[in-house]
Amino acid sequence: MLAAVDARFSSDARQRWDQGAAAYDARHIRSRSRWFGPVERRMYRSLLPAPSNGRRLRVLDAGAGTGVLSAYLAAHADVVSADLSAASLAVLRTRQASVAPVQADLARLPLRPGSFDAVVSNVVFPHLPDELVVRALLELHDVLRPGGTLVFTVFNWETMRRFRTFPTPRGRFPSGVYYRAYTADEARALMNATPFRDVRVRGLGAVYAFCQPRRGLHRLYHRLGWATMPVEYVLQRLGLLSRAGAYLVVTARKTPAS
Ligand SMILES: C[S@@+](CC[C@H](N)C(=O)[O-])C[C@H]1O[C@@H](n2cnc3c(N)ncnc32)[C@H](O)[C@@H]1O
Repeated sequence: MLAAVDARFSSDARQRWDQGAAAYDARHIRSRSRWFGPVERRMYRSLLPAPSNGRRLRVLDAGAGTGVLSAYLAAHADVVSADLSAASLAVLRTRQASVAPVQADLARLPLRPGSFDAVVSNVVFPHLPDELVVRALLELHDVLRPGGTLVFTVFNWETMRRFRTFPTPRGRFPSGVYYRAYTADEARALMNATPFRDVRVRGLGAVYAFCQPRRGLHRLYHRLGWATMPVEYVLQRLGLLSRAGAYLVVTARKTPAS
């Protein structure tokens, strides 16, 4: 059972994400496609397991929002897109990708245990309080098949503490949406509270993290960020500056069946 306080948090979050869905899609998704969004999407794809037995991968996009990652992955896998916000899923449907939307709280997933090869979750856990994150991670563990892969991103406090827009590691954005940033050690500690194995933490978005705190560079980045994508891509592929990104990418596996 979800504790009353967590259920209240989820209900409040649902309202806020419903109100902000269209604006989020317009501002972040469109602008991210000019920044390191394509790098991010390829990164998720490169971390998915290889399909086996000639069948397509089954992937859960947990907190799919307006569906940009789901739509990209749908070309390579059968995708279920779960999100708390009906308004976000309504935008996702307009992307006309062949994905299956499910309105659900990650802390109480109405999905069959062991039914996914991989779970991806892009910038969702930074918007949940710690207790709900652990609960959601246990749900995601449950819906993965043995040996299945989990990939998710969180805000990286080691770089974001230098951003003007992030005065504290936990707080609320002007929209009222809760956020929480993690150090790499905190991200590891979080995973230690779960049955996941083979945990790895790396960075993503190093060029953005370098430019954001410097006013002139930040403005330039908003115009020309797309030009830095090849640099981000190479840094990502080679694992260079692994902790320097604006985001931390956490990968882990469910223990294979013995
Ligand atoms: C920052 S958006 C990210 C959306 C998408 N993953 C992307 O990359 O664009 C966070 C999303 O998490 C969803 N979310 C927040 N709390 C949730 C919960 N408890 N269960 C399911 N989804 C949740 C919100 O509705 C929102 O769509």
